[in-house]
Amino acid sequence: MKPSYQNRQRLMKAEKAGVQGMKESIIILGGGVIGLAAAFECRRRGHDVTLLEKVSCGGQASGAAAGMLAPFSEIEEDPDDFFRLGLRSLRLYSQWIEDVKKNSETNFEFSNSGSLHVVYHEADLLSLESRQRWQGEFGVEAEIIKGRELFDLEPKLSKDVIAAMRYPEESHVYAPGYVKALEEACRNLGVTIKDHLEEVTVKEWESAVLLQAKNGETFTADKLVISSGAWAKEMENVFQMNIPIVPIRGQICAYEINNGEVQHIVYSPQGYLVPKENGSLINGASEDIAGFNTEVTKKGIDRLVKWNKNVFPFLEGKEPFHSWAGLRPATQDGYPLIGKKKEAAHIIFAAGHYRNGILLSPVTAEIVADTIDGKEAEIPLHLFDPNRF
Ligand code: FAD
Ligand code: GLY
Repeated sequence: MKPSYQNRQRLMKAEKAGVQGMKESIIILGGGVIGLAAAFECRRRGHDVTLLEKVSCGGQASGAAAGMLAPFSEIEEDPDDFFRLGLRSLRLYSQWIEDVKKNSETNFEFSNSGSLHVVYHEADLLSLESRQRWQGEFGVEAEIIKGRELFDLEPKLSKDVIAAMRYPEESHVYAPGYVKALEEACRNLGVTIKDHLEEVTVKEWESAVLLQAKNGETFTADKLVISSGAWAKEMENVFQMNIPIVPIRGQICAYEINNGEVQHIVYSPQGYLVPKENGSLINGASEDIAGFNTEVTKKGIDRLVKWNKNVFPFLEGKEPFHSWAGLRPATQDGYPLIGKKKEAAHIIFAAGHYRNGILLSPVTAEIVADTIDGKEAEIPLHLFDPNRF
């Protein structure tokens, strides 16, 4: 059969982008940031990739995220392999973003704003200092800033703040723009994206991979990647294994501010604030258990809003213009599942990224593609073994 005009265009673009002839066929189940990033990486390494999404790509947690790339602020306590994972992903980001922009032919915000982790009491300085010490051993640039210097950096900060840890490397993306661009890049490279399938079930996986959508359409491949976020637990019966992933709702909102009024990502003990170039200041986020309910509650948003005057007094009395919620895929031990199913090397998990899926998307894509290509991973993966529960 002759390829359609659109498909011919995609094949030409894929060739131009240096995608080689097809190697293996891969089905990716779930079109959030993790599935899309894995699809993008596998496709540009020459695999034949089909992504199946039951609703719309980026329509769940990924499109709801604040977009912070902040492993040093988010992974505070443990110098373990999870920290290494976050660090590697952050360092992959600049090149990754360039590649996504080039292949999608779209632009989206990627800001090297740096972050400030603010504290209000002398006693809290101790924990900042210990973090600065152990993170420094990983080559992380971190400085504790006080007094005049701090207010020169972030002039509208509350005078109740006594000090802040500054991480110049932490940055952020506009998450909805990033996932849209990833989807576009995948399409341009020739990933087949089937969305709005309503329901997709795994019919066979032991000797061959066969999936079926609600409309009866079937899909087969050599390998299957499970990237269905907070819904991955639904696969427990299929694969006869424990997948302890639960949805943790994050309620989040945005203020309209003047451009430049806030310069950095600001982490405080009760929430974070992220200034976007479109003039909004994103303020997150609750952590509550509400099943798969993505409604926003007054209580959830009020808790954030009431606190903000302690960070930026100019926010006192201001109401957010928009609020929304998403479901973080949280695992029992807080670490994602990335890697092969035991005794079924063609089934690969990439789920449970909890608070850091946007940050971890490039490194997860790299590990998924390396696993498929039989390449040794760049960092130890034992902690993320999907068979550990
Ligand atoms: P999702 O984006 O939820 O995607 C899973 C997809 O799978 C969905 O589209 C779903 O429809 C689909 N699906 C499910 N089951 C099936 C099936 N059977 N068949 C087909 N499709 C299926 N992370 C950061 O790094 N930085 C941040 O600043 C940040 N802020 C956040 C703020 C909030 C309020 C929230 C909620 C999260 C935040 N996160 C952040 C976390 C991040 O959003 C998640 O870790 C990440 O989006 C998870 O991506 P995912 O692709 O695994 O899941
Ligand atoms: N990483 C920010 C959040 O999950 O709310």
